[in-house]
Amino acid sequence: MQPLRSDLITDYDHLADTWWDPRGPLAPLGWIARARAEFVPAAVHENARLLDIACGGGLFAPPLAGKGYRLAGVDLSQLSLREAGRHGYHALARADLTRLPFADHSFDVVTAGQCLEHVPDPYAAVAEACRVLRPGGTLIVDTIADTRLARLVAVTLAENLPLPGRPARGTHDHRLFVNRPRLLRTARSHGVELELLGLRPHLREGLGYLAGRREQVRMVPVKATGVLFLGVGRKR
Ligand SMILES: C[S@@+](CC[C@H](N)C(=O)[O-])C[C@H]1O[C@@H](n2cnc3c(N)ncnc32)[C@H](O)[C@@H]1O
Repeated sequence: MQPLRSDLITDYDHLADTWWDPRGPLAPLGWIARARAEFVPAAVHENARLLDIACGGGLFAPPLAGKGYRLAGVDLSQLSLREAGRHGYHALARADLTRLPFADHSFDVVTAGQCLEHVPDPYAAVAEACRVLRPGGTLIVDTIADTRLARLVAVTLAENLPLPGRPARGTHDHRLFVNRPRLLRTARSHGVELELLGLRPHLREGLGYLAGRREQVRMVPVKATGVLFLGVGRKR
């Protein structure tokens, strides 16, 4: 399944050398990756495997260091995969997130960070993530909710205010934002009961970042899931 915007993957190829720029257009993805890693349990056996779906430039690898997983990543952007290859993944493949090149029950943890909002059928992607997850394994997804508020924050403001860390214009298409009840239903029907929580930048750190005094901003959990949210659950 190709993304709705046919040039999306080309855009990520063009952005590939900015993945690790702390003031570049992809910088907030690093903050979210660190928040996501907090939900990854420590590996319980020696060959535990984690699949990072749509791994981009590999921003998720550093916060996972020490958790004990062998990391696999898939993405459609070849140049992003090349970048991820410099950051500790054991296996990387160019693959669509709705057609993962892995057998059922292959992974102890499967994550899909900041990618479901880029594809026309995020629910098919979630079903596929559940397929490759072993029973008892952990699924973590984080994405953007299909609300007016999310459109205002993630598109109108985030893509237009002249601030560091601003995503490129056109990065997000609000029509692809994810319906939370449908996401929950889909995961449940594939054996995973997801719990949702919202994420937002730590306000003081965010201001410090904008003022050029900080390179990183913590994402803090909040009850409201109407903009950026994360879902976590174990497979039956
Ligand atoms: C916003 S980035 C997130 C990257 C990474 N998960 C992170 O949080 O840093 C979205 C990623 O999804 C990838 N992508 C978009 N559509 C995809 C698809 N259909 N299959 C696989 N990857 C896809 C893009 O190439 C890009 O690397």
